[in-house]
Amino acid sequence: MEESSSSSELKRPQFGTRNLSDPQNVFQHNAWDNVLWDEKQVEAAEAKLKLNSSSFMDEEVALKYEKEASQFWDTFYSTHENKFFKDRHWLFTELPELCSEHIESSSATDATKASAPCQLAGLRILEVGCGTGSTVFPLLEANTLKKSFVFCCDFAPKAVELVKSNPEYDPARCHGFVCDISEDNVKFPFPENSLDVILVIFVLSAISPEKFSSTIVQLSRQLKPGGRIFFRDYGRYDMAELRFKPGKCISEHFFVRGDGTRVYFFSQDELRKLFEGAGLVEEQNVIDRRLLVNRGKQLTMYRVWIQCKYRKPT
Ligand SMILES: C[S@@+](CC[C@H](N)C(=O)[O-])C[C@H]1O[C@@H](n2cnc3c(N)ncnc32)[C@H](O)[C@@H]1O
Repeated sequence: MEESSSSSELKRPQFGTRNLSDPQNVFQHNAWDNVLWDEKQVEAAEAKLKLNSSSFMDEEVALKYEKEASQFWDTFYSTHENKFFKDRHWLFTELPELCSEHIESSSATDATKASAPCQLAGLRILEVGCGTGSTVFPLLEANTLKKSFVFCCDFAPKAVELVKSNPEYDPARCHGFVCDISEDNVKFPFPENSLDVILVIFVLSAISPEKFSSTIVQLSRQLKPGGRIFFRDYGRYDMAELRFKPGKCISEHFFVRGDGTRVYFFSQDELRKLFEGAGLVEEQNVIDRRLLVNRGKQLTMYRVWIQCKYRKPT
């Protein structure tokens, strides 16, 4: 497994502090943070990966998943609607930049700031691949001063429809639109160089690896100088990657699920190359390794996520 670089170690995010020091205690809690993988575990993961990725699926079949990607996601949302609403309690702790207290140096003490709810600073934010709004609605809720504006898009029309039909959707503070961010020359409803923050949360993994670079370059163009991309997505050897059965692998670390949606598992190094290749400067690139426990069934699940922040130079 790759390790975080020493510079990113200095900028550890607040992933949690429940560390498992004695493996015998594993079933005492539902989750453990900052889990260390030993050599044996890495070897076991590599063996599983060898098994499910030893041959790639037929190119023609893979092409169908590429061409119909938005339809597969659209069907996903037509079936599940917003039942997959994810808990985004970590958003404001991991991204204090979104909060006005962080930007406006007020006279409040640190303790007051820590206990105050985040108020969205006057920012222009874009969330790409917004799904049904797991992130958009916490952002709008925090936008009490009404100074910020949240753009959000998804290439699945049903997802955008669900966002817009949510009672919390307020067109004065938010604009949802259908758009495929992996296409060249997307016509965004805002000028280039105008955004403070772009959120790319569990969406790049759904795009073909050949399109990663052009997608990130296109998104970077939309940022103001000094603006940031915040990225969170699946990391290599995540439980979901190791669970795929043979026959589901499109290309290295890229798989198709039973419902036709696709998922890629990233390494820190390739993300660094990707974002720096788009002219952005690294502020954070860290791995979040977590052990989730089903105490009833005595099951352990090793999750691996990567979180990054990259800034457009001024
Ligand atoms: C795993 S879901 C994540 C949804 C949301 N970001 C979240 O974290 O809850 C991936 C989302 O990305 C969207 N998506 C995938 N490829 C896309 C593309 N090329 N352009 C825009 N949206 C895309 C899908 O429709 C889906 O809503």
